[in-house]
This record gives sequence, C-alpha cells and structure tokens, in this order.
Amino acid sequence: MALKEAATAVREKAYAPYSRFKVGAALRGADGNVYAGCNVENVASPEGTCAEAGAIAAMVAGGETRITEAYVIAESPAPVPPCGGCRQKLAEFADGDVVVTMATTGGLEKRMTVAELLPGAFGREHME
Ligand code: THU
Repeated sequence: MALKEAATAVREKAYAPYSRFKVGAALRGADGNVYAGCNVENVASPEGTCAEAGAIAAMVAGGETRITEAYVIAESPAPVPPCGGCRQKLAEFADGDVVVTMATTGGLEKRMTVAELLPGAFGREHME
C-alpha cells in the first residue's frame, strides 16, 4: 500500500476532540510493510500522543524497528512538520537520509530528510 493512502485513511480515525486537528502518519518498514498511526488526544493534554508516535508503536509491535520512508498528513494551509519530540522518535528508527514527506489534505507536499529535521541529533554514539 502507498504511504499517502495509508496516512490519509488513518487520519480519519484520529481522536482529536480538543485540537480538532487530525493527523495521520504512515511509515514504511525495512520489511516493506506499512505501519500507520493517528494522534490520540487526552483531556489531560500532555498525555496525548502524536500520529508519528502511534505509527512507530504499530511498527515496533509488528516486529520492525527500521523506517525507510515516512509520510505525515494533516488538514493545514502548509505541510505540517513533525514536532520536536517526534523528530527524535523518528531518528531513533530511521537513518538521517530517510525522507519524511509532509503533506496537506489539499495536495501540498514537502520533503525533508530526518537529518534535516533534526540537525545535530543526540544519538547513541554520544553515549559511547
Ligand atoms: N500532531 C501530530 O500528531 N503530529 C504532528 O506532527 C504535529 C502535531 C498532533 C498533536 C495534537 O493532537 C494535535 O496535532 C495538535 O497539536
């Protein structure tokens, strides 16, 4: 399945009663499978989770830990970039050259690599 299609479909399932801002994310794993997630908000707002985090959880639960491609979609005038925390979460499972496509439901797309989204990332090499 195409990432765009998966992210668009899962976005409809987002639980976003507080922000009313639905986000869908889809990841291609190194296994070739597509893993999707949506944002899930909570009345205690810090407890909400982003679409990217949901997709990563689905991927890991599916037995995959490497991302080869990512797609994030929201209804917005401009492509929505992953939040800071999600950039770090993506960097945990994706090499720096992995492309993240940020899209709007209106058809705009912007592509950036994980390294561009998180320059100077803290990585496991810093703990060696
Ligand atoms: N959100 C995501 O799910 N992913 C992003 O990349 C940006 C923001 C969600 C979190 C929250 O539920 C809503 O969008 C508004 O911040």
